[in-house]
Amino acid sequence: MSDESVTYVAAIDQGTTSSRCIVFDTDGSIVAVDQREHRQIFPRPGWVEHDATEIWSKVQAVVAGALAKAGLRADQLSALGITNQRETTVLWDRATGRPVHNAIVWQDTRTAALCDELGGQDGQDRFRELTGLPLASYFSGPKAAWLLDSVPGLRRRAENGEIAFGTIDSWLIWNLTGGVNGGVHVTDVTNASRTLLMNLETLQWEPSILSAMNIPEAILPEIRSSSEVYGTAVGQLAGVPVAAALGDQQSAVFGQTCYEPGEAKNTYGTGSFLLLNTGTRPVPSKNGLITTVGYQLGGEAPVYCLEGSIAITGALVQWFRDQLGIIRSADEIEPLAASVADNGGAYIVPAFSGLFAPYWRSDARGVITGLTRYVTKAHLARAVLEATSWQTREVVDAMYQDSGVRITSLRVDGGMTVNNLLMQHQADVLGVPVIRPVVAETTCLGAAYAAGLATGVWPDLDTLKAHWKRDTEWTPGMDEQTREREYRRWKKAVERSFGWQD
Ligand code: G3P
Repeated sequence: MSDESVTYVAAIDQGTTSSRCIVFDTDGSIVAVDQREHRQIFPRPGWVEHDATEIWSKVQAVVAGALAKAGLRADQLSALGITNQRETTVLWDRATGRPVHNAIVWQDTRTAALCDELGGQDGQDRFRELTGLPLASYFSGPKAAWLLDSVPGLRRRAENGEIAFGTIDSWLIWNLTGGVNGGVHVTDVTNASRTLLMNLETLQWEPSILSAMNIPEAILPEIRSSSEVYGTAVGQLAGVPVAAALGDQQSAVFGQTCYEPGEAKNTYGTGSFLLLNTGTRPVPSKNGLITTVGYQLGGEAPVYCLEGSIAITGALVQWFRDQLGIIRSADEIEPLAASVADNGGAYIVPAFSGLFAPYWRSDARGVITGLTRYVTKAHLARAVLEATSWQTREVVDAMYQDSGVRITSLRVDGGMTVNNLLMQHQADVLGVPVIRPVVAETTCLGAAYAAGLATGVWPDLDTLKAHWKRDTEWTPGMDEQTREREYRRWKKAVERSFGWQD
């Protein structure tokens, strides 16, 4: 049972495949976790949707579950932080609280043609200077534009102020703080920086882009910092300050305590997202990365990151399990891959949603190359895992070209870091140590930290840094010649994936 005098902070992580709630104590240690999956809806090839109402009920269930496991009442929580799958877009009716359509998920490619059209003669980089992003189906603005054009009567209702737009953070905060009964309609700078609608310097919605995409300002939430009290929760968390919001990848940067320029982390989830802290000025990318807000603490200057977004990493293991049926559970992949010495010449490029960084090719589709009769399912298992480390190598190279910063080690977190073979291969192909901290739930931890900073649970960043402890370190072992030869083969395989979708 809980100690009545002790303070706790909770975080909700609403991710692509599941929602979780974690309660932390003031040392940043985990007290309780609860997690539930939600449905993945695939109406057509390339389309991915979620039911936002289902997400909200799963979130309520995991909050109740985590409190029960911790033996805590809501009034023992000092603050609640939110972190979320980014870019996924919900439009809802302000009067009924009901979504007007399923949420369009970040992986969904339905807006690829719309993005081409919006790019016009300027192409993919039309809004890059203002937003730090290429025009790609990944981001929220075109998803909202698609909904406004596709749901009958929606545009008129949006113009009348009846409709609210949000990424998942906004949807949750609005519901947590009362929904139709006075819910607060806000987003934070990190989530807003993924919409293609926010000016990266002013941190405000950019009027020229709203007009180019024909998005009425009346639907947009107010943009706030990542660490401040947005409102007070009602319902089961009644009275708890909702005090932080960060996109999940930025939250992991914060939880990994990458507070100094030059510090980087990679999170291995559905996809993988490598973020490098570049300090208080945005660094434009010329090598296929994106520039994004890392975090902003209350009224302080924002901290920016360069990001290498990889759409499919863990999801390739799921595909190998569910669609091919070669393994029955994800943890079977490591012993299968370890039963052979190498990939037998096979490479898998998982361009299921096109390719994100550093290519941004919506015409790419997945390929398996290098097949001979020698190749077995064990070699393919290796190729599945290696696809993650090679894609990471590509974004690390781009980061060096953009920033001149050569990372000397990589902090890692996320589900796939339990896979030793993968982490060793990652260290091998990067040629630097890969380090996992004791608390590998850094996504939730970051949101809890930001919420606790806003409410005085922790005084400063140094206190948070002192919590970070090394758990496992993988040191590089591959010789350079092998590494570079295999990297060349990987790159050839990537070229084969281009131009499949015309
Ligand atoms: O940009 C998409 C990213 O935020 C999704 O993260 O961990 O939910 O797959 P995850």
